[in-house]
Amino acid sequence: MKIVTLIGARPQIIKAAALSRAIRTHFAGQIKEVIVHTGQHYDNNMSQVFIDELGIPEPDYNLNIGSASHGVQTAGMITGIEEILLKEKPDFLVIYGDTNSTLAGAVAASKIHVPIAHVEAGLRSFNKHMPEEVNRIMADHASTLLFSPTPTGINNLIKEGFEKNNLPPYTPDHPGILHCGDVMYDNSLYFEQIAREKSDILKRFNLENQPFYLATVHRDNNTDQPERLNAIFEAFHEITSESKIPLVLPLHPRTAKLLEKNLHSALYEKISNNPFIRLVPPASFLDMILLEKNCQLVFTDSGGVQKEAYFFGKPAIILRSETEWKEIVEQGCGIVTDAFKENILQAARHFKKNAASLKFPPLFGDGNAAVFIAETLIKNS
Ligand code: UD1
Repeated sequence: MKIVTLIGARPQIIKAAALSRAIRTHFAGQIKEVIVHTGQHYDNNMSQVFIDELGIPEPDYNLNIGSASHGVQTAGMITGIEEILLKEKPDFLVIYGDTNSTLAGAVAASKIHVPIAHVEAGLRSFNKHMPEEVNRIMADHASTLLFSPTPTGINNLIKEGFEKNNLPPYTPDHPGILHCGDVMYDNSLYFEQIAREKSDILKRFNLENQPFYLATVHRDNNTDQPERLNAIFEAFHEITSESKIPLVLPLHPRTAKLLEKNLHSALYEKISNNPFIRLVPPASFLDMILLEKNCQLVFTDSGGVQKEAYFFGKPAIILRSETEWKEIVEQGCGIVTDAFKENILQAARHFKKNAASLKFPPLFGDGNAAVFIAETLIKNS
């Protein structure tokens, strides 16, 4: 059988690596994979470094779409993907997560009746102001195979009218709803040892045997709304100045561009002169694993980083008003603070006091999600 895998933004390259590896290791004779990169992320440290480190084959096609408004970006992708699907005639288009690339794939494939497999189906924030929420709802409703990482995802789909017990043959009107675990967990297990051997980030940043915090901030409602960005960085400034513990913040290019513009000049000055706030370029996958594994606490508005923090037994302060990964919060290992300074400070104090009593039972499968997905694709081709 043949699949077309669609990647575009950084987290998709990471997620796609798990299935690609499963195919090469276990199903090379049974699945031919054609990789299409939309070019949504194009900086070397947002794209190519992940393809190299995670061992994904070079994409067969790159649409080089780049940055633009949502409409222009998504429309360009749809046009390019349609052309490739018509030429390649795959059994499935495999799409990941919730980005504009995911949506473009779903629209292009469904119109020409190429069956869609959506990996990370059923996740919901219940906040349609997020472009990602709209993207994933539309992707789910166009898909034939919906692979959900968590029981919460399955329940969300049932509430939207999906029938959990559908049996094959699956179609977009009679889709397969499948709980498979999280491909990101597969990756974290697989790459943990490799990161320890290959990444020198702790040495480079002088963090060996030294406590530190890790933060990522990239959601458009945090970076583009000055009030929110200021509250988050005021909290970072206060926490690091008081604790004298460094905070490492690999900066997404969007955040890097907006920091000086959207922070009050006095705060920007304070952040720039704070020796404990380390603004660094986006981290590679292996570097990020080591940072997550060795930090004390994570501050993030990223879905993926929340989960990776959990995989490595670290609490996460979630800089959003809600999370799709509510089991992390229910387990007491994540606190949703939104972009409110006092909430962030309080959550940091809470985790400092209670770190030793936190428990991180496996909630995201057994590390074999990608093998299950590959087997299911074969059975249903
Ligand atoms: C996208 C996804 C988001 C995901 C994130 C991971 C959508 C709607 N959002 O957000 O779900 O969590 O990727 O990173 O698809 N830029 C560069 N170089 C790059 C990539 C981006 O400079 O390689 C800058 C550009 O100024 C661009 C901005 O970042 O305008 C935003 O990029 P875009 O892909 O539109 O959205 P992300 O914020 O990265």
